[in-house]
Amino acid sequence: MPGRDPLADPQYSIPLALKGNTRMPALTTTSDGFLLHGKPFRILSGAMHYFRVHPDQWADRLRKARLMGLNTVETYVPWNVHQPDPEGELVLDGLLDLPRYLSLAKEEGLHVLLRPGPFICAEWDGGGLPGWLTSDPDIRLRSSDPRFTGAVDRYLDLLLPPLLPHMAEAGGPVIAVQVENEYGAYGDDSAYLKHLEQAFRNRGVEEFLFTCDQADPEHLAAGSLPGVLAAGTFGGRIDAALDQYRAHRPEDPLMCAEFWIGWFDHWGGPHHTRDAADAAADLDRLLSAGASVNIYMFHGGTNFGFSNGANHKHAYEPTVTSYDYDAPLTESGDPGPKYHAFREVIARHASVPDEPVPAPGPKLPSATVELTHRAALLPHADALAAPLRTEDPAMMDELGLSFGYALYRTTVPTSGQGLLHFAGGVGDRAQVFLDGAPVGVLERRHHDEALPVLVPRPGATLDVLVENMGGVNYGPRIGAPKGLLGPVSFSGTVLRAWDNHPLPLTDLTAVPFTPSDATTDAVPAFHRGTFEVAEPADAFLALPGWTKGQAWVNGFHLGRYWNRGPQHTLYVPAPVLRPGTNDLVLFELHATTGTTARLTDTPDLGPEIS
Ligand code: GLA
Repeated sequence: MPGRDPLADPQYSIPLALKGNTRMPALTTTSDGFLLHGKPFRILSGAMHYFRVHPDQWADRLRKARLMGLNTVETYVPWNVHQPDPEGELVLDGLLDLPRYLSLAKEEGLHVLLRPGPFICAEWDGGGLPGWLTSDPDIRLRSSDPRFTGAVDRYLDLLLPPLLPHMAEAGGPVIAVQVENEYGAYGDDSAYLKHLEQAFRNRGVEEFLFTCDQADPEHLAAGSLPGVLAAGTFGGRIDAALDQYRAHRPEDPLMCAEFWIGWFDHWGGPHHTRDAADAAADLDRLLSAGASVNIYMFHGGTNFGFSNGANHKHAYEPTVTSYDYDAPLTESGDPGPKYHAFREVIARHASVPDEPVPAPGPKLPSATVELTHRAALLPHADALAAPLRTEDPAMMDELGLSFGYALYRTTVPTSGQGLLHFAGGVGDRAQVFLDGAPVGVLERRHHDEALPVLVPRPGATLDVLVENMGGVNYGPRIGAPKGLLGPVSFSGTVLRAWDNHPLPLTDLTAVPFTPSDATTDAVPAFHRGTFEVAEPADAFLALPGWTKGQAWVNGFHLGRYWNRGPQHTLYVPAPVLRPGTNDLVLFELHATTGTTARLTDTPDLGPEIS
């Protein structure tokens, strides 16, 4: 709603002083450092994304942040999940109840650095840009293209009013707001950055603003704004990095907006870790230089559901479900070696609460879960999603799908040996079936476009099940399309008349489970079982013998599993469990050698490399 004055909305009690740019922000700078309400203040922050942690665990994690010696937490705000529908309301509940998260931070006595993007990177699907926006190939993303800034403005009209009461000016915990994210690594449209700065200001954000960029002169020149603090993102070579910021802005205090103390993993890649002593030594270097810091991540959490992003440099590489990040707090919220090492370092530079470090939380006793009910996907596709008929296969965004799967079905008029050709390739992984039998897999990662097949009879049914494995979140390929990306032909004849079934898998109530002892053949199928819990506690779901798919516990979508690794267990947060009978559903795309899953008390994120 362009032109609307969000501050006029009586739903939000905005102090009058917030109207108009009349007040000093709570956080200000000198060349030596920051002042908060006029007093010297060093930002000791840790990143923790509310949308990657079960909301019932937010308070516990925030408390642990304070006990490590942090005075601030940082979070991004992911546009794509807050505004899944351009015409709909903003989603601000459950895992996305940002106002509640901010209130809890305040209750814990923590300040907040808010990073609302609109682009957030963060190994998050599409870097947080909504699929309904990136699907328009003509929009110049992250630029002053009015089609982009118009959508951003409409989003900020909705997002900022409920956040304004949480700004420091209104007595809330938010002391600083980031403009964009590492923009210098992407573009050089300074009018766009200026637009964002003004967009925040026009909607009542009076707090301190900053940009963040990697430590090199080109990135800093393209990504920073006059009069706005240029903060850094780096994990090592501390002295050299700080020199870059000093050279770029001699008058600004030093601030590392992302001090990378671990890293994330891709499916099929190594599990990254960073030695705690090495990271602690670099933290000490930063603090000894007088810098402020945001530890990225303090607590990584989990890419629940279909929320993970992907990288695409030389090849498409989707990020795994865990966002443990080898952070001070593990994925299950337990203090690890870095927690203790960082607390010691911080204690040398600031006062750390004189309270004991919390012990690891309880874990569920190991248990086996029998999956006793099944339903194959292909015979029940119509029950799960009414198909849309098109001449050529529709891409996922044309089906209104921002995540999940699409099943494409047609018939092949001729039989015999031949080549199935997928013009434009697939996004991101396609399983091909003829008369229900699996005949091959194509992957974007390998730029696959063709599959030799034997069509058993004229009129055979061709099914192609395509998985969106996560939207690229960094670089120029953000918004790359998903699904079947062009016409499909068999031995040179284009196949027409497709039934496209969108499968977001947000509601599994229509899955027609029936009791079954046998594992189904190597075809996509849902499997369901129950298990008993005496007292809910964290657990890790291990799936030995299963291949690739999705898992839900009591309807909560834990995320993707894949025997390709490195991750071999999925985190099951205690709050999704209940005393008594609990429900496990797997959507297995391929085969399983058994009918059981295992709950264990130990995560397996893969063999460590440093
Ligand atoms: C950059 C981005 C973050 C994240 C990290 C890697 O610094 O700004 O969002 O992607 O890289 O984890």
